[in-house]
This record gives sequence, structure tokens and C-alpha cells, in this order.
Amino acid sequence: MQSNTFSGLFEGQNVITLQRIPSTNEYLKEALSKSTPLPEGTVIMAVDQHDGRGQKGTVWQSEPGKNLTFSLLLTPLFLDPKQQFILTAAISLAVVRWLEELTHVAVTIKWPNDIYVGDRKIGGILIENILKGKTWKSAVVGIGINVNQTEFPAAIRQRATSVKQILHRDCPVPELLPDLCKHIEREYIALKTSRFDTVLTAYKQRLYGLGELRPYLVEGIHVSGILRGVSETGRLHIDFNGHVVDFDIKEIAFVI
Ligand code: BTN
Repeated sequence: MQSNTFSGLFEGQNVITLQRIPSTNEYLKEALSKSTPLPEGTVIMAVDQHDGRGQKGTVWQSEPGKNLTFSLLLTPLFLDPKQQFILTAAISLAVVRWLEELTHVAVTIKWPNDIYVGDRKIGGILIENILKGKTWKSAVVGIGINVNQTEFPAAIRQRATSVKQILHRDCPVPELLPDLCKHIEREYIALKTSRFDTVLTAYKQRLYGLGELRPYLVEGIHVSGILRGVSETGRLHIDFNGHVVDFDIKEIAFVI
């Protein structure tokens, strides 16, 4: 285990790097369940995360030592649990802004929080909220970014990309973390100071497929519609010939 600190909003940020663990989200959640005192801004980073978790019970595979796989602890007590989506939007926006600065290419968010370059996924976010009754206790913000990996499992080969595939050079993985955390801090401060509209507007502008007529799957049926935006609770607005319908995550899938 290696422990580092760097300064920022999460003053003297606590970065714990572990060589090989199943999942940084699981590790952090377990530490929290044992009431381990961890300051907001603590980062658990894995060099080799061998059983990474993705959204909707999927797996997140990452070649050892090649990518960013970490979990950040936030305590967004200023948010109501009903406002969970705005945190998703803020984190997604931060990742997009950071990646655009790093790669100088356009980066988008496939609703709600997949990070895309063109039609390929470069990163994923898994936020697990820990609530106590009606109040928010903490959020475990898991982020995986494909950095130096260039070979992907057959099932995702045509749909994945990495920083190296864009820049055609290796990036030193641990050195990327402070900048990404600074971007997250910036958007998190925007939320703390109630600038929800600013975050939501910027998030909407980065949506993959925004304003385009494209295919979706609704209840197993292929449909075509134009993505118009999202509500502040995170429902997706799709325009079908002038008739706009709202969807939640279980009700619609992108066809890519
Ligand atoms: C997804 O796109 O399905 C979300 C992927 C999230 C992966 C990250 S990697 C670090 C953290 N630990 C995990 O087990 N998952 C998240």
C-alpha cells in the first residue's frame, strides 16, 4: 500500500494506492461499513483491479497497470437524496472536461454517465450512494478510464477506446489523478454553491447523440428519435416526431 497526499478542496487529499484488489468501490464501501474514519476526498486507487464492477451488475475489465481505476469518497450532505442525478451530472462533466484537456478531442456523455469519444467508450462511472434514512451519508464515486490499454476483450473491441489510442503515446497513469480530481472538485464546488443549472446545462450540451435522429431500444422495440435533453432528475427526453417522451434508465437503451 502506498499513501500520498496532494492539496485541493479535499485538503491534504488522502490517496491510497493498492497493488491488487477486486474492486476499489467494494474496498471503499467495506471500509466505510466498518466505520473507518476516512476524510472526504479519500481516493482508493488500484494498480490491478481484477473484479471491477460496472453499472447494472456488469463487470469492468481493466488490464493491470494500464488504466485509471479508483474510487473517490464524497459526503454530499448538502444534497437531498432526491438530487442524486445532479451528482452524476457533475462527475460526468468533470471527467469529460478533464479528458478533453488531456486529449484535445471531443468527449461526450452517453446518458447517464458513460464517457465516449466518437462511438467508443473510453470511461465509465459507478456512483454508489450510501443513505441513512432520508439523508445522504456518503457517495462512493468509482471511475474507470482506459488510459494505456490498446487491446480489449473481443466483446467490446469495436466499442472501446483509450487515451493511448487517441494520443498514440503512453501516459503515466498515477500522474493523471490530481488533475482529474481538480476537475471533480470544481464541479463539486459548483454543486455546493447551488449552481445546479450551470452544471446541468453543461452536462446536457455534452450528451452523446444530442439533437440527432438515432436508434433506441424501448421495451425491446427499435425506435428512432431525437435526444432533446434530460430533466433535473435525470430522465431522458426523446422526441418522436414532435412528441417528447421521458425515460428512466430501465426504460430505454441506446443502439450503437
Ligand atoms: C460502467 O461503465 O459500467 C461503470 C464502470 C465503473 C468502473 C470503475 S473502476 C473503479 C471503480 N471500482 C469498480 O469496481 N468500478 C468502478
